[in-house]
Amino acid sequence: MKRLAILGASGHGKVVADTADVCGWQSVVFFDDAWPAKARNGAWPVEGSTADLLTRLADFDAVLVAIGDNRIRLEKLAILKAADARFARLLHPAATISRHAVIQDATVIFAGAVVNAFATVGIGCILNTGCSVDHDCVLEAGVHVSPGAHLAGGVRVGQASWIGIGACVRQSLCIGSRVTVGAGAVVVTDVADGVTVTGVPARAI
Ligand SMILES: CC(C)(COP(=O)(O)OP(=O)(O)OC[C@H]1O[C@@H](n2cnc3c(N)ncnc32)[C@H](O)[C@@H]1OP(=O)(O)O)[C@@H](O)C(=O)NCCC(=O)NCCS
Repeated sequence: MKRLAILGASGHGKVVADTADVCGWQSVVFFDDAWPAKARNGAWPVEGSTADLLTRLADFDAVLVAIGDNRIRLEKLAILKAADARFARLLHPAATISRHAVIQDATVIFAGAVVNAFATVGIGCILNTGCSVDHDCVLEAGVHVSPGAHLAGGVRVGQASWIGIGACVRQSLCIGSRVTVGAGAVVVTDVADGVTVTGVPARAI
């Protein structure tokens, strides 16, 4: 029996758990700091907080963090790593991933996502439903590419940046760290660290 623990009993966590199901994980259990008030997440039980998970790592074959906030997800991953947790990597069977792409641990790739040749995706990333990450893109740790967002070839995205739903990024651009690209934006220039951009063409707000 393959047993997976997921930290973060959120809506995003439900999609991660559902993806784990189809990837062959037979047992999925959540942990969340809202426990015991939150005792279930959809079809799955919540069995404790972050502190409880740290005492129960030996009960699981691997762990994942399903927290949408990129900064918090990376913090929780660091805490788990310091405790020698083993991280899973979930690649939905309905995602299309080049065999020449490199996908690091603790990353989840949902149904319909496409990752093309020689893209590299760092630890703890979320490639959400139906997004695309084209050839030679480099995504650092903790990046979230939201549903239906598209990165053209050779785009670099810095740590903990968030590409909003339906956004597009033109080829070969550099998106800094902790950037937010708003829903539906079309990014046509580089974006500096920590900046939020929206609109078509995308401008800082
Ligand atoms: C960009 C974003 C982070 C800004 O959120 P916020 O700081 O709460 O900003 P507000 O909603 O207060 O909006 C601030 C202004 O920006 C505008 N704005 C916000 N998001 C925008 C967008 N995506 N495109 C164009 N304009 C936008 C608002 O209309 C508002 O304009 P106003 O000041 O003239 O009224 C957010 O709107 C967004 O796009 N988030 C991405 C959501 C997403 O991808 N979800 C998928 C999760 S899987």
